[in-house]
Amino acid sequence: MATSVGTALDRVDGRAKVTGAARYSAEFPEEHLAFAALVESSIGKGTVRSVDDRDARRAPGVLAVFSPDRPMALAIPADKKQNPQDRILQVFQGREVEYQRQPVALVVAETLEQATFAAALVRVNYSPSKPVTDFDAQLSNAYAPTPAEGRPSQSRSGEPRSTPATTLNATYTTPFEHHNPMEPHATIAAWGPDGLLVYDTTQGIFNDRKRLAALLGLPPEKVRVVTKFLGGGFGCKGSTWSHTVLAALAARELKRPVKLVLERTQMFSKVGHRANTRQRVVASAQRDGSLVLLRHESVNSTSEFEDFSEPCTSVTRMLYQSECLETEQRLVRLSTGTPTFMRAPGQASGSFALESAMDELAFSLKMDPIELRLKNYAERDPSSGKPFSSKALRECYRVGAERFGWARRSPEPRSMRDGRLLVGWGMATAAYPVNRGQASARARLLPDGTAEVVSGSQDIGTGTYTVMTQLAADALGLPVSQVRFDLGDTLMPETPGSGGSQTAASVGSAVRKVGDALRSKAIALAVADADSPLHGADPSRVVVSNGTMALEAKHETYAALLARRRLPELSAEAQAGPGKEKESYAMHSFGAQFVEVRVDPDTCEVRVARWVGAYGVGQVLNAKTARSQLMGGIVFGLGMALMERTVLDQRTARFMTQDLADYHVPVNLDVPTPDITFIAETDHVVNEIGVKGIGELGITGAAAAVANAVFHATGRRVRDLPITPDKLLGPGPGAAAL
Ligand code: MOS
Repeated sequence: MATSVGTALDRVDGRAKVTGAARYSAEFPEEHLAFAALVESSIGKGTVRSVDDRDARRAPGVLAVFSPDRPMALAIPADKKQNPQDRILQVFQGREVEYQRQPVALVVAETLEQATFAAALVRVNYSPSKPVTDFDAQLSNAYAPTPAEGRPSQSRSGEPRSTPATTLNATYTTPFEHHNPMEPHATIAAWGPDGLLVYDTTQGIFNDRKRLAALLGLPPEKVRVVTKFLGGGFGCKGSTWSHTVLAALAARELKRPVKLVLERTQMFSKVGHRANTRQRVVASAQRDGSLVLLRHESVNSTSEFEDFSEPCTSVTRMLYQSECLETEQRLVRLSTGTPTFMRAPGQASGSFALESAMDELAFSLKMDPIELRLKNYAERDPSSGKPFSSKALRECYRVGAERFGWARRSPEPRSMRDGRLLVGWGMATAAYPVNRGQASARARLLPDGTAEVVSGSQDIGTGTYTVMTQLAADALGLPVSQVRFDLGDTLMPETPGSGGSQTAASVGSAVRKVGDALRSKAIALAVADADSPLHGADPSRVVVSNGTMALEAKHETYAALLARRRLPELSAEAQAGPGKEKESYAMHSFGAQFVEVRVDPDTCEVRVARWVGAYGVGQVLNAKTARSQLMGGIVFGLGMALMERTVLDQRTARFMTQDLADYHVPVNLDVPTPDITFIAETDHVVNEIGVKGIGELGITGAAAAVANAVFHATGRRVRDLPITPDKLLGPGPGAAAL
């Protein structure tokens, strides 16, 4: 029946986006709008003694200044969390300063310029204390995080039985990173007779609603959150942060709508970051490459007031067979804001360590890196013993290697050149778990024969509008041009947040289900109708295409049915959610990343020349947006490998990197067009539509693949990201040669 699913349909919202018709959260017109500007702490730790806002309050256009001296009331404490994605907030309920650039005052004025100017006039008096900034010095205080559900901080399976021929014991580090979606965080909050309306940059409108309602003391139905378009999320928009709550509180105090948009520099502090990590991998193997022990320990920084564990070792718990698998996660407290999810949390950083270690092990065993991985290929989840719902990883290795030309690789480092440039070929495995949450959707057939389908959700740039239109069209037997899909409003049926690569699986299953239900309803109505050409037909044999229900020569359109029955619409609702499949199966997307780098032996500049990836992701809903998702992940991984890093000032606890001039991300010239192949894969276990999720898979293994290619090019093993030229120039193995 599927005719649209799988095709490379252009984004249905593409025209709206390129013409500017698409409304992002900061762009909704509100009458009588006031503008807010944040005042941020200039110390890394201490207390606010007093806030002198006299000059600010006298400045032109200023409506109010809020601060710990003039707080706004909350219904529950800002440190009371209800959901795992909730964050402890800094909304002037106390005088504690926990990190640099923490919100310490909010100025609201008639215009943005007036608010910004007046914010500069606020003088905050502090009692500073010494911030904690030295990660390495704090390692002796590392502690185990509270175990998240299904994710203990320690794991051990099996016993080492054989005598290893070689053992690797290596430590890898990854730096602080900041997400930097193009669209900054923004909130417009407006109170009306029905309660609070919030246009917010959020990856989870229903979570946002729940959090705001709890903090403001409202029933959830008195809060409406709208997010029609997001200019990227990547995890930092997965929680409700302080600025959103401050905007809502200020709007309530002032009895007028308030808009608060974060400046780029303000995003390097209070809306989360990727925690830095220190990871040790101990890997011992027999002569033939069989793993005897794989031990992965990870320590990541968190804030001083909240635990956030970057689950780096998750990948090690499921990727390779080993006689013994051991993992451990710990935390270190620093005077920063709380870290948060960032594209493939844990898996991105963790796979850098694990997949670099596998490359190092292969080199010391004089084995091909793919051979070593195949030698330890896990036929079942090595930690739980459960079978995989589907796993095309072998095929990913084979197809990726073939497209890349891996067989032509000469294994010795520094053995391949292009003129004066060193050429390196590296590879790594990609893996990301399948996630899914409870989702619902509503669909209506209209008298003109078209359909409207809605489901709360949010499109964080991934293509949700487009793939849901395709799924609905196929289920209803309509061309995509006859289906309008809408999302992004808590007045619509509830869905989970868009994180963990779960939206297509979760919302897609509900959309498919509601489409099936509505199609069946129309068919049932027709076959029961004495005036229908289909009267008396077996409903299970009626098929619908192009809006026409047909059984052999008998047929009737949806439009004709609704017209004759004088129905203004025919509608259905459906819910879909996970069952017990995770009890019996391990469910993951997999892939193989292949990279060619060119390294200039004089400047040590690394350029990525080629990228080949092959992925098994279950059903591909849209060949074009799926490829774009993988490409986005790869580019993100390339940035992680070579460029991205936020530097924490050890004296002040301020992130010194604070704009896109200092925070380097790849630009077009840094990125070759990746060669992306999807391995055909049918998975009947994961969900009704066989979708495994693709938003985060592309970044996993990516940094390791680059590091492995750099080693192959130069003979230099860089275990500390990002791989900047100084790390290839400095002293270390291979230094003289380069
Ligand atoms: Mo993603 S880091 O789960 O938004």
